[in-house]
Amino acid sequence: MAIALNALGPSFATEVSGIDLSEPLDDASVRTLWDAIDRYAVLVFHNQSLTDTQLRDFAARFGPLEIGRGALQGGRRRLAIPQIGDISNLDEDNRIRALDDRRRLDSLGNRLWHTDASYMPVPVVLGMLHAVALPPATALGGGETEFADMRAAYDALPESMKAEIDALVAEHDIFWSRGQIGFTQFPAGEREKYPPSLQRLVRMHPGSKRKTLYLSAHASHITGWPVADGRLLLWDLTAHATQRQFVYSHQWNVGDVVIWDNRCTMHRGRPHDEMKPRDLRRATTLDTGSTLEQAA
Ligand code: OGA
Ligand code: MN
Repeated sequence: MAIALNALGPSFATEVSGIDLSEPLDDASVRTLWDAIDRYAVLVFHNQSLTDTQLRDFAARFGPLEIGRGALQGGRRRLAIPQIGDISNLDEDNRIRALDDRRRLDSLGNRLWHTDASYMPVPVVLGMLHAVALPPATALGGGETEFADMRAAYDALPESMKAEIDALVAEHDIFWSRGQIGFTQFPAGEREKYPPSLQRLVRMHPGSKRKTLYLSAHASHITGWPVADGRLLLWDLTAHATQRQFVYSHQWNVGDVVIWDNRCTMHRGRPHDEMKPRDLRRATTLDTGSTLEQAA
């Protein structure tokens, strides 16, 4: 069966059918998916059934894989493969985490608009989430994941604003993003392990050659500016970039896989019933260099 696209908007987010992600992927299919990523930035697959090994092997066709902060913290883990991130509200024994559980509170940082791992000197490229178990919808929300198109958001800025921000550099810091939700219980030594990183505010997306805003909840301020001025600019740009016309909201079904390009999108999780299991597994590909070395 041939890979087919069903675009969810003119240039952002597309459904992809005609492919079984649990099967080994040939080079032509990898190229087809890269072309779709470069054009649409978010790909949605339905009715996939992947073991963690299959998700890892599929993701590894797109680049070297990240081992995330959670897996590096040590201790017993629910998932065996370190390259598979545990995006769930479950502990090592598959029990719902208590409301005051440190790891749960840390993961609530995902509810802020962000791009993954922008606090690392060399950040990540593709995020790939696979839905294994989902909570029922409630008044609070159903645990949707929203994605915002940072290329369209950049394009929509006034030319004078583009000129003002094109050469700026922002400082990204995991302690800043978590501090915004009042989370400070980092394990001993973690502060030293994750110093702030500098990232261009405007990047050129290599696959599409489109310019894109590189914003994130991790972005704390602008280098060379007073902290307050930089923070206010970042808040203004984030409010602009997350207007509904730039957003695709994904309502999960078990078996969905969503791939997004962290270089040109932001995303956030939405609230859900915390007493019900929500279990997603994530593989993430690494970039090859700092955004500071890349042209805008
Ligand atoms: C992530 C993330 C949001 C969600 O996995 O990187 O931010 O909806 N997830 O779980
Ligand atoms: Mn994320």
